[in-house]
Amino acid sequence: MTKICSKLPETGTTIFSVMSQLAAEHKALNLSQGFPDFPVDPQLIELIYRAMKDGYNQYAPMPGLPALREAIAQKNEKTYGRSYDANTEITITAGATQGLHAAISALVHPGDEVIIFVPAYDSYKPAVELNGGKVVEIPLEAPDFEPDWDRVRAAISEKTRMILINTPHNPTGTIWSKSDMHELEKVTSDTDIIVLSDEVYEHIVFDGNEHWSAARFDGLAERSITVSSFGKTFHATGWKVGYLCAPAHLMTEIRKVHQYVVFSVNTSVQMALSQYLQKDSNWTNLPDFYQKKRDAFRGSLTESKFKPLACSGTYFQLCDYSQISDESELEFAKRLTAEHGIAAIPISVFYPEIKNQNLLRFCFAKNDRTLEEAAIALNKI
Ligand SMILES: Cc1ncc(COP(=O)(O)O)c(C=O)c1O
Repeated sequence: MTKICSKLPETGTTIFSVMSQLAAEHKALNLSQGFPDFPVDPQLIELIYRAMKDGYNQYAPMPGLPALREAIAQKNEKTYGRSYDANTEITITAGATQGLHAAISALVHPGDEVIIFVPAYDSYKPAVELNGGKVVEIPLEAPDFEPDWDRVRAAISEKTRMILINTPHNPTGTIWSKSDMHELEKVTSDTDIIVLSDEVYEHIVFDGNEHWSAARFDGLAERSITVSSFGKTFHATGWKVGYLCAPAHLMTEIRKVHQYVVFSVNTSVQMALSQYLQKDSNWTNLPDFYQKKRDAFRGSLTESKFKPLACSGTYFQLCDYSQISDESELEFAKRLTAEHGIAAIPISVFYPEIKNQNLLRFCFAKNDRTLEEAAIALNKI
């Protein structure tokens, strides 16, 4: 057998694939992976169909269809008061994951340090390590999972190249406040640190709270790449279309990587999205839509032994199961799937070293019927 030296020796199959496969094997309700089980707006499907019939079937320009980049520029202006140049500062990517990877590959050099907050979405670390970077982890402590700015200040060194943030936060459902973003602005001012701001749940924020995008702060916008996902915003995770916004000098470098990883992204979907973005309510209705689901799911657990933690954003609900079991999160998640027909994600897998806090993450981007069935099963445990 040919000898190879793994570039990612410690990386296995992502937990999302593992739990989704287990859910399928046991015919369990899949509240593990973060995708909706309800349909995409038929109007958007119709727009794609029309775009295909109108001939939008060949390569799009490398940074994305101009009409879509223009629509995103207008949306950013309206939503965050920041004007990004559609030609030089916005790039359409194959989902947020590829955007994150392109940004990290373009900007992190061997030996550079990248600060991430754990628990963290699992694509960040391998992307940094593949590029020879070193991840410096800062814990977010339960139950509030708020960033500790003294720890951030202590973690910054002359090797710090990037700080990777994620708000609203997967898996904890927390959001960063305006004052957190000001702190970030302060700790990065007068440095060459780049902020990579994963904002894929930007439109899923509850209880009248605002999403404090890095784009809203002058001192951050000049050093930040914001990452968005149409999959999350328009209930179409399978299309894998997202985008990055960043100042031109950063975007120029990112596009050098992007062009040789995917070159360009699904043209007809881009065309349809450019038209769908013309109607603000297609995304401004999202907080209300998901808040109803969050409230229904949490409400259905009031009598159960699962204790929901606060959830201010995203479509994930953390639940404490310590009244039921002291098994590890992974063992309990597997047993919940096999014996009770509910798949969830152990949050221990979002930490560098397995840490058991008796917390599982449930995705509530599901039909009301699915959530009701899940609640019946969870209430019996
Ligand atoms: C925090 C976070 N970032 C990025 C992604 C990936 O988004 P996309 O499907 O657009 O690649 C996800 C998906 O679950 C996520 O939760």
